Amino acid sequence: MRKATIAIVVLSLAATLPALVAAAESGTAAPEVVHWESWRAGNSVSDLASLQRGAHDFMSYCNGCHSLQYERYQRMADDLKIPTAVLVSDLLPPASNHLDYITSAMPSGDAAVWFGKAPPDLSLIARSKGPDYIYQFLKTFYVDPTRSTGSNNLAYPNTAMPAVLSSLEGVKEATFRSEGDEKVFQHFESTVPGTLTSAQYDDFVRDTVNFLDYVGEPAQAARRSMGKWVVAFLVLLTALSWLLKKEYWKDVH
Ligand code: HEC
Repeated sequence: MRKATIAIVVLSLAATLPALVAAAESGTAAPEVVHWESWRAGNSVSDLASLQRGAHDFMSYCNGCHSLQYERYQRMADDLKIPTAVLVSDLLPPASNHLDYITSAMPSGDAAVWFGKAPPDLSLIARSKGPDYIYQFLKTFYVDPTRSTGSNNLAYPNTAMPAVLSSLEGVKEATFRSEGDEKVFQHFESTVPGTLTSAQYDDFVRDTVNFLDYVGEPAQAARRSMGKWVVAFLVLLTALSWLLKKEYWKDVH
């Protein structure tokens, strides 16, 4: 019995030994390659709290350059259950009316001159490019002194958009490996920390993307909550029809 136990311990140690050696060796080797293309937003348009945070994020960090030209402030407040007092005090830009469309204060002519490209309206961006793309875009800015903005992006190489969230995310450099003429991305290295941890930054981006997903199809939040009423209505209608049929046929026999 004792011998058998010892044998098992020895055998299992022997089995894990190669793995331990490999781990020790890889400690000095290059860090693993980050596959940012497989990052998913994982957002949910039925999460009201996330949408409300996303609306805040958008108005604070994006609306300076980007508009949402098909959405009115009041519609956003109604759909996302934002009280009027909060809408007026936190979200509505000065001199705007709650019935206005969500325009941007930036004149697009000036923006085109400053950035080389006007910031696009983002009403339909989640529909045209998908939430995962925007999530990847907002998480793959890196320092690039050869660009006039000082930064570059993996999801949208040579984008004209500056790294506007670097105060939150921190500043990061990208490491590439040369493969012939091609530069293959390896991983990021943080050079200046941001005000958020990386988990908090992921949440910030997920909420912002969630909000843009909702804006791309404002009816989807309402439609999802309407489903149960439709089913209840159909059940009621079936019961009433059955009673009506009984009423009609009761004198026939
Ligand atoms: C300082 C101005 C500025 C701010 C602030 C800004 N952007 Fe942009 N953004 C731009 C410009 C300029 C472009 C056009 C980039 C291009 O086409 O190269 C752009 C493009 C985009 C695109 C389109 C990318 C594509 O593939 O076409 C998305 C999505 C986007 N921005 C999201 C955001 C979000 C979300 C925020 C807020 C967190 C934000 N932007 C804040 C200037 C800005």
